[in-house]
Amino acid sequence: MSEFVKVATIGDLPPGTAKRVELNGRKIAVVNARGTIYAIDDTCTHENESLSEGPVVGEIIVCPKHGSRFHVPTGRVLSLPAVRPVDTYPVRLDGDDILLSPEARRGQGMPHKR
Ligand code: FES
Repeated sequence: MSEFVKVATIGDLPPGTAKRVELNGRKIAVVNARGTIYAIDDTCTHENESLSEGPVVGEIIVCPKHGSRFHVPTGRVLSLPAVRPVDTYPVRLDGDDILLSPEARRGQGMPHKR
């Protein structure tokens, strides 16, 4: 069982925002999607842009570089030009603290077909 590590607090992350954190050398976007906290790889699978710099709309985060949309709970890519999903990470809350496990789960869903 992997260890959960505090990376932020709820106060850092109002609904509809994302924040980049680093855990074990990986860049991870922690996202507050409609009040639920999720964690996904911060690096867009298209050209390595930071997803946490993009807008959060409901359960979707939009890459600020070319506009690919990713489903935050599953990591699934919803629109081109990215075609591969991003990994997700288990999240736990402890009071106001947001804790992540560094054990990535492979992004779900089929790659977006061209
Ligand atoms: S870098 Fe994200 S869509 Fe191109």
